[in-house]
Amino acid sequence: MESEFERKVLMCGIVGYTGTNDATDILIGGLKRLEYRGYDSAGIALGNDEGIESVCRKGRVGDLEQTVAGMQLDGACGIGHTRWATHGTPSEANAHPHLSCEGDIAIVHNGIIENFMELKEELLSRGHEFTSQTDSEVIAHLLEEEYALLAFDDSGQDDIANAQGRRLDRTPDKMIASGDPSVLAQAVSHVTERLIGSYGLAAITSHEPGVIVVARKDSPLVVGAAPDGSYLASDMIALLDATRDVLILEDGQVAELTPSGIALFAREHDELVSCEYETTHIDWSVDSAEKGGYDDFMLKEIHEQPRVIRDTLAGRLVGDRITIDELGMSPAELNLIDKVYIIACGTSYHAGLIAKNLIERWAHIPTEVEVASEFRYRNPIITPTTLVVAVSQSGETADTLAAIRDARIKGARVFGITNVVGSPVARESDGVIYTKANKEIAVASTKSFLGQVVSLTLLALLLAQTKGNLTTGQIRLLFSELADTAEQVEEIISDTTDIDSAALACKDASSALFIGRGMGAATATEGALKLKEISYLHAEAYPAGEMKHGPIALIDEGFPVIAIATKSPTYEKVLSNLQESKARGAMVVAIATQGDEEIGKYADHVIFIPKVRDELSPITASVPLQLFARAIALERGCDVDQPRNLAKSVTVE
Ligand code: AGP
Repeated sequence: MESEFERKVLMCGIVGYTGTNDATDILIGGLKRLEYRGYDSAGIALGNDEGIESVCRKGRVGDLEQTVAGMQLDGACGIGHTRWATHGTPSEANAHPHLSCEGDIAIVHNGIIENFMELKEELLSRGHEFTSQTDSEVIAHLLEEEYALLAFDDSGQDDIANAQGRRLDRTPDKMIASGDPSVLAQAVSHVTERLIGSYGLAAITSHEPGVIVVARKDSPLVVGAAPDGSYLASDMIALLDATRDVLILEDGQVAELTPSGIALFAREHDELVSCEYETTHIDWSVDSAEKGGYDDFMLKEIHEQPRVIRDTLAGRLVGDRITIDELGMSPAELNLIDKVYIIACGTSYHAGLIAKNLIERWAHIPTEVEVASEFRYRNPIITPTTLVVAVSQSGETADTLAAIRDARIKGARVFGITNVVGSPVARESDGVIYTKANKEIAVASTKSFLGQVVSLTLLALLLAQTKGNLTTGQIRLLFSELADTAEQVEEIISDTTDIDSAALACKDASSALFIGRGMGAATATEGALKLKEISYLHAEAYPAGEMKHGPIALIDEGFPVIAIATKSPTYEKVLSNLQESKARGAMVVAIATQGDEEIGKYADHVIFIPKVRDELSPITASVPLQLFARAIALERGCDVDQPRNLAKSVTVE
């Protein structure tokens, strides 16, 4: 039973279309593209001058598709939503779109309305009836009130005709439209002023057929015009079939979509003022968002990693110098850095753990790595000479964004490492490196993790270069070895026989330990996360030296211990840990360096990887761990691309 004020939060997908084609297929197609973001319920609403028809289903977009296939939905204008809830049972009632009491307005919303309880009570007291427990529904009811105030005169006469007349003044077929905003746009703008929290929202009304209005705050929204009409989505991947020239909305902007184009408005005082805008051209191939012949996106993305390494390094060594112009800091400013904080969540945090070792080893700058959700509430000590590095694949993780804002208020320079061009992390940081992974579809991060590690390695080299701790010769050598990892990763993924047989041996375990020392300890953390998130097998990572302080008690006959046992200054010590594990019956899987003839004595399964220097070993050692996790997940019958309970972007706290 859900609580009355179920506080559901969404990491969802939003789409919309208005044009000359049938909207249903376009909306369903767009939702399928976004399904990786959330997949516990989905819905669409189509509007025309006779009213709004809305269909919602619990479950995946495929369930919704089947439902609408049996209906005669008619309309060339509509909005859609796929939802991922963190609280309460996913249900049809809570699925979007949400309608006003009269059913003449429909909205979809991504984000969280923090003051929804207060707004809901207010609306209930004025006679509104709610059909869901969601926070989003308040938007539909607020819009209903606001729309009535703006659109109907005192005698209750409909003033929409005038509003439509004004809209028709716009030049058709142009992205830049002029003129006054529609009544719906004005109403949306007024309503957003009452909302506290985050929102990417789209609204339609039967009073203004063919119009969709969108607005955003801290939640992504992209719009684009195509010959057959105007499109919107919370992620540009859903637009790429229709158009490659998109407008990425900024916080506070309101856009109005009609079949003939898109008008952009910004709030100035109490007014919506028309603005000109430039579109961004997206050159990703649509194919890069498809599986490209692989069984799943995760495998495809693992195979893309050599390309990611090459692209991330391209143009970074100019002469003998590492060059990251986007950092936005002069060498003199960089030289003043005396403390680095890396803030991130999940896999990105693990990339940070690897980077800490590199920055401290090469640049000799004290570095702390902190989970963003802790950092933001901990009041960390930050000075103007602190560099905060925010790492986020999506560039929209709520905690990481909040931590960035906090760090900037405290006076730090913030440098973002993200995969998504124009994402909030990119926009809110002083400088940014893009990881060049391209769109990552599988929820479990693989290629973007490698892109992050390579980018952070570059940053460590840059800091070392600036501080004068590495000679140009050393920098050149390290860069060249870093570039070589692309080929080494290719070699690892070309033959997975040993990985698959180790996975087969471990698939029935209920728990596993990942161990390593130094770089290996950091690598182990990501190995354990990959395994648990896609195979639902409990896994923990421990520095191998900690085994005797507790975790060794877990080991009994057949218990999997996965060790990063590559050649490193602590290799012998890892061997001792393996011996201790084996003595207690553990099934040891070792990631080891090619040519290591000793390791076979300590491990039941050995996965050999090419020899690299210790500092670069996380790049090569992570890849077999990704493949190992995937192989186990498939053996256990799991959906490796869309693991249960997870969403690709965590855009709420
Ligand atoms: C990765 O496999 C995870 N799904 C997750 O831990 C992710 O890394 C985390 O949510 C952070 O996301 P971000 O990099 O987009 O900020």
